[in-house]
Amino acid sequence: MINVKDIVKGFKTPESRWARFGPYYAMFPLDFAFEVVEQYSNIGDFIIDPFAGRSSSIYAGGVLGRHSLGIEINPVGWLYGTVKLQPAGKSEVICRLFEIYSKRNYYKKAVERMPLFYRMCYCDEVLKFLLASRKHLDWENDCVDATLMSILLVYLHGKLGEGMSNKMMMTKAMGINYSINWWKKHNLTTPPEINPIDFIMKKLDWRYKKGIPAVFDSHVILGDSTIELDKIIQDAQEADIRFSLLFTSPPYFSVTNYYSDQWLRLWLLGGSEIPKSRKEKYKTRFSSKKDYYILLNNVFGKCASLVDKNSTIYVRTDRRDFTFNSTLEILHNHFPQHKTEIRDRPFRKRTQTEIYGNSSVENGEIDIIMSRK
Ligand SMILES: C[S@@+](CC[C@H](N)C(=O)[O-])C[C@H]1O[C@@H](n2cnc3c(N)ncnc32)[C@H](O)[C@@H]1O
Repeated sequence: MINVKDIVKGFKTPESRWARFGPYYAMFPLDFAFEVVEQYSNIGDFIIDPFAGRSSSIYAGGVLGRHSLGIEINPVGWLYGTVKLQPAGKSEVICRLFEIYSKRNYYKKAVERMPLFYRMCYCDEVLKFLLASRKHLDWENDCVDATLMSILLVYLHGKLGEGMSNKMMMTKAMGINYSINWWKKHNLTTPPEINPIDFIMKKLDWRYKKGIPAVFDSHVILGDSTIELDKIIQDAQEADIRFSLLFTSPPYFSVTNYYSDQWLRLWLLGGSEIPKSRKEKYKTRFSSKKDYYILLNNVFGKCASLVDKNSTIYVRTDRRDFTFNSTLEILHNHFPQHKTEIRDRPFRKRTQTEIYGNSSVENGEIDIIMSRK
């Protein structure tokens, strides 16, 4: 019998050790994710989250015995999610860690060519190891490589001693010039000397100390929901499956950009050495009201054809007018038979969104809960 309290508080079980895996922006509080799944679904039900982020909803669903399916477009969020649902075995990850580490000296010259930011952020030993990992880890296709890569992502930057970098924030990577100037101003121009093997081994020991979480049939797809949902609809029709809980939190209009905030982690995954503004759809801070509306309308419209008529729709969003009103209107249109309850969720403590986003007094979140009962 699973004790949810042991998962959302403390680190006594494998499920609790992996539950918070991955610093991400605007993530669900863990206790909230478990509460919603417990209250609005039953064991064996099907749950979907088309904007999964680091997959707390899907993890709660899987740990509580629900078939759970997520979709996430950002590879950083996706990796955290997919790994915590099914981490590779510790010994295989350690073997791979040593294999990658043994290749580091091929990257001596490459380190010398790296832009100043990287030389100030990481000591040579770490930077060589990161360049080898970036080149050789097949994180998209291989479970062991995905697990090792996701551990590297978690500790890629953070406070001194907590990450492999010079002093930085953990959740969000600051810009190149900002960081260089900040390090100069605070006399931190020399990165900390870290042995990457010792450092990562300690992190692996802690994470695996209680084992691997038991997660029931749950997956997260790396992709764009407007595309992936078509395939899911087809598969669900063929298998005669209906989802009983749609539990999600869409991006908030004009608040954050999940790509530029994660630019350094995206670099490690093979992206550009310098943060670039993205032109691709859904990879920017949403600034066009029309595009934002179209995305939500498309995704919730497709989800409507997947859910059971007695399903619950649980959507957490930003309470600012445009995001909230559009979301509510779209949900009413696609779920006309459902009754709606609105719950105000003022921030309990200062969140990342509040600190870096717009900190107007209207800030806070709001839950839209729709059901037939
Ligand atoms: C508010 S966050 C979700 C956070 C999540 N509830 C958690 O606990 O981590 C919204 C997420 O939607 C993702 N997203 C935006 N457009 C998307 C799309 N077209 N398809 C799939 N995911 C998308 C963003 O990358 C972001 O991770």
